[in-house]
Amino acid sequence: MEKILVLGGKGGVGKSSISAATAVLLSDLLPNKKILLISFDMAHNLSDLFQLEINNKLTPLSRNLWGIEPDANIYAEEYTKELIQKMKTLMIQMPIVGMIPQIEKFIDKTFTANSIPLALKNAMFFQKILDAEDINTDDVQFDIVIADFPPTANMITLFEIPEDQVKVVLKYSLNFYNSIKGAIRNVSKMWRNIIKPFDDREQRRELGKEIFNMIVELEKRGERISDLIHDIGSLRLVTIAEKPSFEEIKRARDLTEKYIKLEGVHINMITPEAKKCDFCNILHSNQLKYIKEIKSEFKKLKIWQSKRLKEEPIGINGLKKLAYEIYGVDINAENILNPKI
Ligand SMILES: Nc1ncnc2c1ncn2[C@@H]1O[C@H](COP(=O)(O)OP(=O)(O)OP(=O)(O)O)[C@@H](O)[C@H]1O
Ligand SMILES: [Mg+2]
Repeated sequence: MEKILVLGGKGGVGKSSISAATAVLLSDLLPNKKILLISFDMAHNLSDLFQLEINNKLTPLSRNLWGIEPDANIYAEEYTKELIQKMKTLMIQMPIVGMIPQIEKFIDKTFTANSIPLALKNAMFFQKILDAEDINTDDVQFDIVIADFPPTANMITLFEIPEDQVKVVLKYSLNFYNSIKGAIRNVSKMWRNIIKPFDDREQRRELGKEIFNMIVELEKRGERISDLIHDIGSLRLVTIAEKPSFEEIKRARDLTEKYIKLEGVHINMITPEAKKCDFCNILHSNQLKYIKEIKSEFKKLKIWQSKRLKEEPIGINGLKKLAYEIYGVDINAENILNPKI
C-alpha cells in the first residue's frame, strides 16, 4: 500500500465525482498499480457514477481498478456472531451460570453489531479490504486506495479510531468477560467441594483465550488502520466557491488535523464565463471572490480548480472528462499522489 487518498467536504460539492474521476485517471496513468475506490458514505453512489451495480462486493471497473460500497454492518455482524457463539459455549458449560435461563439472551443482547461504533465497523472492514481477506477476486493487494467519505461530521467518526471508541468496546467487553470469569472461579470452587466438577476446565480456558484474542484483535484492527491513515493517508477537501462549503472545509481541516495530513483543496463546479450569459458572468465574478479567499486560507496547499461541466460526469468517459478538467491533460500521477505547489 502506497497511498490512501481521502476526499472530504460538505454535502453535494462533488466528493464522490472527484474521487471516482481521480481513480479512473490514476488507473490509466498507472497501469501497473492496483487501485481501489471505496465509498464510506452510508448513501453510496459509486454505482450511479459508474452506471454499474457495485454494492458490497469488490467490483472490477477497469483492468486495474476496483470499486466497493461496503456494508460494514454485514461484516461486523459476522464477526460478532462468532464472538457470541464462543461466549455462549463458554457460559453454557459453566456450572450454575449455564443453568440460568436468561444467560443466552443476555449474551445475545450484549454482543450485537450495534454495540460496535460505526468507526470501528468501518475500520474492521477497511482492514479486511487491506488484507484482501475473504475476497472473491484472487487476493488483490491494493497499491492505492481512494476513499470517498461522507460529509464532515460523519467523516470525523470514521477517524476517531482507536483513541476512544475501540477502548470503550474493549473495556466493556473485558469487564464483562472478567466478571464472568470471576463468577466461574467462585462457582467452580463451591462445586468442587460438593461434587467433582463435570465440566472440562481445559476446554473452557481455551475458549476464554480465544474470546480474549478476538477482542484484542478487534482493537489491533482499529489501531492498524489509524496508523496507516496517519502514515500514508492524504486528505483532499472539496469545496465550491461559496461561503457555506468554504466554512465547512476550514472546520474539516481543524477537526481532522490530528488524524490525517491535508494535502490539497479542490474548488469544484466553478461557473464558466460566457459571452452571451450575463448571469453566468455574475456568478463567475462572485465565485472569484471566494476562490481568492480559499487560496489565501489554504496558501501552503495544492489547489485544484474545476469548472462546472455541461454534462453530469458519469460513466468512465464522463469521469475522465472531469479528471482532465481538474488535473489538466498533461498531468502525471506523481503530481496527483504527492502534489507540490
Ligand atoms: N465539475 C462538475 N461539473 C458538473 N457536475 C458536477 C461536477 N462535479 C460534480 N457534479 C455533479 O454534482 C452532483 C453532486 O456531486 P457528488 O455526488 O460527487 O457530490 P458529493 O459531495 O459526493 O455529494 P454527497 O455529499 O451527497 O455525497 C452530482 O450530480 C455530480 O454529477
Ligand atoms: Mg458523495
